[in-house]
Amino acid sequence: MRKVVEKDFKYIKGDIEVPSDKSISHRSIMFSSLAKGKSIIRNFSDGQDPKSTMNVFRNLGIEIEYISDKTVCVKSNGILSKPNSVLDCGNSGTTMRLCAGILAGQNFISILSGDQSLSKRPMKRIIEPLSLMGAKIISTKETAPLLINGCDLHSIEYASKIASAQVKSCVLLAGMQANGVTVFSEPYLSRNHTEILLKYMGANIKTDGFSVSIEKSELTPIDITICGDISSAAYFIVAALTIPGSKLILRSIGLNPTRTGILDVIKKMGGRISILDKRVVCGEDVGDIEVEYSQLKGCEISGEIIPRLIDEIPIIAVLATQAEGETVISDAQDLRNKESDRIKTVVSGLKTLGANIDETPEGMVICGKTELNGGCELETYNDHRLAMSFYVAGLLAQKEITIDGFEWAGISFPTFENLFAEVKSN
Ligand code: S3P
Repeated sequence: MRKVVEKDFKYIKGDIEVPSDKSISHRSIMFSSLAKGKSIIRNFSDGQDPKSTMNVFRNLGIEIEYISDKTVCVKSNGILSKPNSVLDCGNSGTTMRLCAGILAGQNFISILSGDQSLSKRPMKRIIEPLSLMGAKIISTKETAPLLINGCDLHSIEYASKIASAQVKSCVLLAGMQANGVTVFSEPYLSRNHTEILLKYMGANIKTDGFSVSIEKSELTPIDITICGDISSAAYFIVAALTIPGSKLILRSIGLNPTRTGILDVIKKMGGRISILDKRVVCGEDVGDIEVEYSQLKGCEISGEIIPRLIDEIPIIAVLATQAEGETVISDAQDLRNKESDRIKTVVSGLKTLGANIDETPEGMVICGKTELNGGCELETYNDHRLAMSFYVAGLLAQKEITIDGFEWAGISFPTFENLFAEVKSN
């Protein structure tokens, strides 16, 4: 679908909620499927990725029903059954990598498949630790599809070279079924929603700095309300920061410190942003965010902050085009393994728009402040975060732009354009 970004507004104003957190939505379905009893999940994400997870667990014999618009009821006896068909993870790396950890310890064979983009993404990062635990996984070229011959697993101590919540969660979910204590450590702390939710559901899990340990556990059902997704909020925050005269309040946004790297970057850049009414909901930090148009300066983004803003780098690149001076993003080579090679695709898209941006092996360098020209067509490379980042760049551009493949926004944020229509003001 080709989308023309309409410049029918002067500034952004409003008081909004964004869709619920995608990472927590996936995990709430997976973990409540493993718990014996009835779980209620409120404010479940309407993105296509969490729906892929829902369908995988329906295929594994779990009863999952919507009881109202965004409320889902999961009924399980705590046991998964052999699926009747291939488990289609769609575009979702989280579905595939976390499910692999769960399925490795089951007593049946299953196959996880994905779309074209997911089939190119590296699975060695999970096949390696799972195999060390005794898992039997067959794949060609260590990519999807994955054939998993479930079996008894044993615990490991695993020091991951990358800070990846998907790898960490995969090992922990396998560890929860293994004999002994599984210990996972990572170079920096990646998002910790798995640890928080498993603990909330009664798992034998302990965290200590960048290390987590888990033992065999029985989970209790949950009644959970999922917060707004800071990764979805990011597009609105950047639009408000960069469009003169804008001011926005975003309600009930997840503020887990392993996800708020973008807020730290905005503060470093001099952005006017504040948190109102911080609270804890189902173990997760939540609050309202107030943000307004700001004069920004470039900054350095590297090291421990990278996993805390990994999904926001495309929209941070857009933000950096509107900041005075140089923004250098490094240590982000894993961006090349996302839904697209996000270093290449972001740099090439923003260059087409007239930004002063260059690729480096592990990130990018952006020099601002530049006017974005527009009057061109940009490609999304089947990547939802590019579709939404380029849309915001299109709002800033002098002339209208067209985005090819805009429908990919629906992977995480089907109502993205409607919500922008609500806040565009004259
Ligand atoms: C996710 C973890 C991150 C992130 C992805 C969602 C998760 O991936 O990019 O969008 O829900 O665990 P990595 O853990 O591979 O960095």
